[in-house]
Amino acid sequence: MKTQVVIIGGGPSGLLLGQLLHTRGIKTVVLERKTKDYVLGRIRAGVLEQGLVRLMEQAGCAERLHAEGFPHDGTLISYGDEMFRVDFTEHVGTPVMVYGQTEVTRDLYAAREAADAPIVYNVDDVVIHDADGDAPFVTYAVDGVPARIECAFIAGCDGFHGVSRKTIPESVRQEYEKVYPFGWLGVLSETPPVNHELIYANSPRGFALCSMRNAQLSRYYIQCSLDDHVDNWSDDAFWEELKRRIPADQADALVTGPCIEKSIAPLRSFVTEPMRWGRLFLCGDAAHIVPPTGAKGLNTAASDVHYLFEGLSEFYAKGSSDGIDTYSEKALARVWKAERFSWWFTSMMHRFPDQTPFDLKMQVADLEFLRDSVSAQKAMAENYVGLPY
Ligand code: APR
Ligand code: PHB
Repeated sequence: MKTQVVIIGGGPSGLLLGQLLHTRGIKTVVLERKTKDYVLGRIRAGVLEQGLVRLMEQAGCAERLHAEGFPHDGTLISYGDEMFRVDFTEHVGTPVMVYGQTEVTRDLYAAREAADAPIVYNVDDVVIHDADGDAPFVTYAVDGVPARIECAFIAGCDGFHGVSRKTIPESVRQEYEKVYPFGWLGVLSETPPVNHELIYANSPRGFALCSMRNAQLSRYYIQCSLDDHVDNWSDDAFWEELKRRIPADQADALVTGPCIEKSIAPLRSFVTEPMRWGRLFLCGDAAHIVPPTGAKGLNTAASDVHYLFEGLSEFYAKGSSDGIDTYSEKALARVWKAERFSWWFTSMMHRFPDQTPFDLKMQVADLEFLRDSVSAQKAMAENYVGLPY
């Protein structure tokens, strides 16, 4: 087999890149380790920056997003019983879009299928060959049958545990990591959201987040310890704990019900540099991870996809390699800013096991500065709705 760009990973990064390249007539093959149903079974964050909305439009995949998504003009932040609001539209003129990542992925799959673009599921043993030469190729197996694809470029969109990042020699690769001493226990429940906007809560019992997918589907999270297990949390125990962490009036308004999904995720900040090695380009979780506070994971993947799409389009339309040569530098400049924001928001909102009384005072000062300062709110809004690209 032969194609122009092999895309490893059929998550949102790989599928979005594939659709954008398709609009320019650039041929791709997507290799996905799992099945489509498995990928669509993963529940991830649900806040899209304008930049990602525009990319979905550019890819011709934004119809349902505009019909079913909810623009949010601001967010609520609480500590103890205090709550204040940061208005994105007032401060920076842009809302965010509440629409589940799973739905983004579903729309991208539908578009790829409608375009009849190739996607191979259940691939094993993916190996990238000669990425640092002029004639790279990728080998893999499906049901034990080996296959090989020759290509001009490889997009490593295979997430944190994929093969792409590890293909870059250790002598070239520099990794930066911070692991947080807690996780998030998340539930999905068929109940109306407690508030029409998201609530990020810092409480003495730990962080909580009230989010949503639509008017009848809520997504809630509470900070938990890393050795906790979902079996320790009955639905009732979860609701009781959530109520203790949000302001009393919100707790009183909370509608509870059966949880249809419950899972625990650890929190990590991670970046690998460079994001390009020869003809291999890393995109999304393959190159970086953020803690979920602020929902920057998918949105940061989207800016990588944008830069790579521009670079590859320029290469195929004009024969210029300027865009691909500067890909890593441009992508990383924005990645680090998203890392900073996610780290700051996480640090301000969580309880850390080794927090001193001084650290707690600093958190309150940070929160009150944000509450009282127009410039601080503007800076927060600018980051939350997404830095430009
Ligand atoms: N070969 C082929 N596919 C692979 C391989 C491999 N060796 N390893 C992993 N994959 C697939 C995974 O099964 C997954 O479907 O690559 C895909 C990567 O998808 P994601 O992990 O979702 O990563 P990405 O597409 O970069 O999405 C960005 O934003 O909010 C965050 O973590 C969240 O997934 C989200 C991410
Ligand atoms: C979610 O809805 O899952 C979500 C929203 C905002 C976040 C993280 C997760 O910051």
